[in-house]
Amino acid sequence: MSHTSARLISARILEQVLLQRGSLSTQINKQIASADPDEQSLVKELCFGVCRYYPQLNSIALSLLTKPFEEKDFDLYAALLMGLYQITHMHTPDHAAVNESVELCRELEKDWATKLINAVLRRYQREHDDIIERLDAQPSMEYNLPKWFIKRLNKHWGSEFEQIVEATNARPPMCIRVNTAKVSRETYKAKLEEQGIVSRETPFSDSGLYLDEAVSVNELPEFFDGYASVQDESAQLAGMILSPQQGERLLDACAAPGGKTGHLLERANELDLTAVELETWRLSRIESNLDRLGLSAKLICGDASELDQWWDGQPFDKVLLDAPCSATGVIRRNPDIKINRKPADIDELVIIQKGILEAVWKTLKTGGVMLYATCSLMPEENERQMEQFLNAQSDAEEVSLNYLNANLNMGIGKKVSHGMQIFPSRKGQDGFYYCLLRKL
Ligand SMILES: C[S@@+](CC[C@H](N)C(=O)[O-])C[C@H]1O[C@@H](n2cnc3c(N)ncnc32)[C@H](O)[C@@H]1O
Repeated sequence: MSHTSARLISARILEQVLLQRGSLSTQINKQIASADPDEQSLVKELCFGVCRYYPQLNSIALSLLTKPFEEKDFDLYAALLMGLYQITHMHTPDHAAVNESVELCRELEKDWATKLINAVLRRYQREHDDIIERLDAQPSMEYNLPKWFIKRLNKHWGSEFEQIVEATNARPPMCIRVNTAKVSRETYKAKLEEQGIVSRETPFSDSGLYLDEAVSVNELPEFFDGYASVQDESAQLAGMILSPQQGERLLDACAAPGGKTGHLLERANELDLTAVELETWRLSRIESNLDRLGLSAKLICGDASELDQWWDGQPFDKVLLDAPCSATGVIRRNPDIKINRKPADIDELVIIQKGILEAVWKTLKTGGVMLYATCSLMPEENERQMEQFLNAQSDAEEVSLNYLNANLNMGIGKKVSHGMQIFPSRKGQDGFYYCLLRKL
């Protein structure tokens, strides 16, 4: 089978991301199979790298072009950004980065652009110091984040600003959740060590391990028999906070890809768990994750805010609402957010979250608890959302987060007006938000 060059596939993937036609991970999943297996890690390095450094690379590129590329030539823009990324961060010898970028124009069948790309990259090589000095004062250069996001971080999280910026720009650590229904964390840690994989216990989750270096899941002992899952430490706290008990009726309202669904069932395999997810293709990911873990739940494709579509009228003891959000706490894992997320998205998401919240609240029994979670750092989606909900809902009260699990160490986050905001940490957890509510 003949393979497409890694650079051509990377340019095509980035072109789609720049055109806002799906996330980076969706585009990689769609296109990577056409690359030679030996070159697939290069595709990921180029695509993730360009997105991770996009604010800086974009500022440099725009300063070198007389006019920005039109949308029809975003494949070339991707090629230029890749060339700059190789020069600035990949230690590719300069002449090789230029030659490969010029060759890529031909592969894209846009020979007319070879001179332009060649001239722009060579000028960057010649005038690198001057260009960087000139651009240095721009916030996008200093912080490598979109301007609107820097402004909001500064406004909301002044004292945590530096930590958040540093963690958001770093490569995230690989964190796994050990399936403690099958094996203890200590035993699994030892199994990893036998394979030469060094790990350390997550300080806040009782079942997580951070790996010193990321590995493919194929290398994780008994991964395909459900002994471990890849899941960030902050996300593991949902299972600890909800502390499911055998026989309880539980709703996972926005469930795909099922990371938390699996965790809840690992903690109590005889739960009566209903998982609702809007997107059919994402629902199948819950199914395959649960299959691998040997667990099962009632899976329903539906809009959580439309109870007629999926609720049988039987109230739930507990509800997890892991709401769709801006994902601003996990930019390091989804760096294309630096390119595509806009402030207006947050306003839209706040409305969607409110709709789902109000609907699923009706499915909770009196005395039951609902855990509201996002991987966002924006107060509008988190504490402000909860404030409005609590003001409007006379049968709701906030519950201290260690009410259900007294052993949970809450040192991980900052107590905010409602709930707990967790910030991303360079070698630790992702940014997250939790608030626990009880129905009166
Ligand atoms: C943050 S993710 C959930 C992650 C999941 N809980 C986990 O731990 O793996 C949010 C999910 O909500 C889904 N979603 C968005 N709007 C929804 C709606 N109105 N009803 C149900 N699911 C929705 C999205 O497709 C996405 O899969």
